[in-house]
Amino acid sequence: MAAEKTLAILGGGETVKGTLINTPTLETGRLILRKFTERDLEWLFLILHDKEVNQFLPWYPIDSIEEAKKFYEERYASKYVQPQAYAYAICLKTDDHPIGYIKVDMEEHHDFGYGLRREFWHQGLVTEAGKAVIAQVKKDGLPYITATHDRNNPRSGGVMRNVGMKYQYSYEEQWQPKNFLVTFRMYQLNLDGNTDRVYKKYWDQSAAHFIEPNV
Ligand SMILES: CC(C)(COP(=O)(O)OP(=O)(O)OC[C@H]1O[C@@H](n2cnc3c(N)ncnc32)[C@H](O)[C@@H]1OP(=O)(O)O)[C@@H](O)C(=O)NCCC(=O)NCCS
Repeated sequence: MAAEKTLAILGGGETVKGTLINTPTLETGRLILRKFTERDLEWLFLILHDKEVNQFLPWYPIDSIEEAKKFYEERYASKYVQPQAYAYAICLKTDDHPIGYIKVDMEEHHDFGYGLRREFWHQGLVTEAGKAVIAQVKKDGLPYITATHDRNNPRSGGVMRNVGMKYQYSYEEQWQPKNFLVTFRMYQLNLDGNTDRVYKKYWDQSAAHFIEPNV
């Protein structure tokens, strides 16, 4: 049973009283977006085990169900006890098994991120999931989302553009835990009508920052 909390949501100078549900289940044409549970560990393993799927993510591919359990506890169960979170399993409606994940963080960056098992790429599934998640966070009063991708992973930038995000700037980072230099492209979507807002923290934290023409 999802933990429910009635909160006053402040947005655009208005006070709206609403009921916030942590990771509320969403349905799209082909997908169910729902919380991960402990029963999903084998499915989570398949997502996290693949080298190519996990190449551009800030963790190493996993090799065991125990590691999948640890990942679930650290990155999902811990979020589901917060008052508000958006940490979804992407499931096909046909069988309700997780084939990927998608999230928006509640930290100041409101980072939007996703990953999908390779055999399901090129069908617009993450774009479909992303549009539904963004509609939900907008409804719940989040003012904006940001997302970053390695310049060598342009398909991820394709998803960002497909969901309406705009490229803002690029920056270099000695990326951890993999410890190599990455040029990230930062995208943003403002949800509260403040179209000029740019989240500058990554720009400010990196000495090497620039705007690439023609992105
Ligand atoms: C990135 C990822 C989630 C995309 O999933 P997907 O469901 O295949 O994506 P979608 O089909 O919804 O959208 C991608 C589309 O963006 C579009 N696109 C726009 N610009 C693009 C570009 N420069 N390069 C590639 N694709 C681009 C394409 O239409 C592309 O679809 P296609 O390759 O089937 O033609 C998937 O490849 C993945 O899981 N990668 C590994 C994890 C990862 O890198 N996550 C992001 C970390 S920042």
